[in-house]
Amino acid sequence: MLKRLSLLATLALGAAQPLLAEEVNIYSSRQPQLINPILEAFSEQTGIDVNVVFIKSGMIERLRAEGKRTPADVVLTVDIANLAAIADSGVTQPVHSGVIDANIPPQYRDPDGLWSGLTMRSRVVFTAKDRVDASQITAFEDLADPKWKGTICVRSGLHNYNVALVAAMIAHHGEAATEDWLRGLKANLARRPQGNDRAQIKAVWAGECDIAIANTYYLGEMLQDPEQAVWANSVNLVFATVGGQGAHVNLSGMAMTKSAPHREAALQLMEYLTSEPAQKLYAELNYEYPLLASVKPSELGQSWGDFTPDPMPMAEIAKFRPAALKLIEKVDFDG
Ligand SMILES: [Fe+2]
Repeated sequence: MLKRLSLLATLALGAAQPLLAEEVNIYSSRQPQLINPILEAFSEQTGIDVNVVFIKSGMIERLRAEGKRTPADVVLTVDIANLAAIADSGVTQPVHSGVIDANIPPQYRDPDGLWSGLTMRSRVVFTAKDRVDASQITAFEDLADPKWKGTICVRSGLHNYNVALVAAMIAHHGEAATEDWLRGLKANLARRPQGNDRAQIKAVWAGECDIAIANTYYLGEMLQDPEQAVWANSVNLVFATVGGQGAHVNLSGMAMTKSAPHREAALQLMEYLTSEPAQKLYAELNYEYPLLASVKPSELGQSWGDFTPDPMPMAEIAKFRPAALKLIEKVDFDG
């Protein structure tokens, strides 16, 4: 709206401005209700129109098929798996920006600038409030201890969230030690891997297991729903470490397409997404952790406690994804 008014004003003044509206096009696997408020704020501030196509799956295939004719400038997605895969598939271009480099710590960016993180997502250990002394678990490594036999619930080992966890374990301990850990974890499962992250917390509430592995933002979402809030309130949360130096984390992030038709506007948008107002909205809207140091997590996020994230660069963890997948299949984790 603002932008149209200013265009009209320009016309009225007879200025020799091009009449092409400034715009930027996004392919997003992130949900509209999460990113729309952030994109609207960007348009409001800059006058640049933002068009979004939501793509649930097949993002890379689509970008490959469209090639140079793609209308997309920017890709928004979650998980280091998707960020690394998009960069590896050659459909993005490096972005070098002093603003992004200043806002996003280097361990959350691709060293070649092919992707950057926007928010941190924390994958943690949930324990039954009434049955587990949460102080007994500080690390994901602890979950292979035979004392937890028959108590742990987790979704499929092949899900991206768990592949990243196993990849982080390999990055810290190597393949052989990670295989032992994975076998130990499998031996401690209460049931075959199944369901999504929320289903694991529900299973703790229902008494099927005492310990669950899931991402923290689901706790925030569950608390919004009267039925699920009961499940969420039955667990404690442990920011479990991998490798001893910090808690395991993952990312949501962004990349610029190789032939972005609106490169300037795209860069402006990408920089905006790392800025304070956008990072604040991210924190409030999805209980994820802002990567910009000056922005605090949501109040609920803060109530879950402080943690030091694993300092291992996400690009380094991503390198071990193929090895992680192989190990998960080798130990027949889901079987
Ligand atoms: Fe998720």
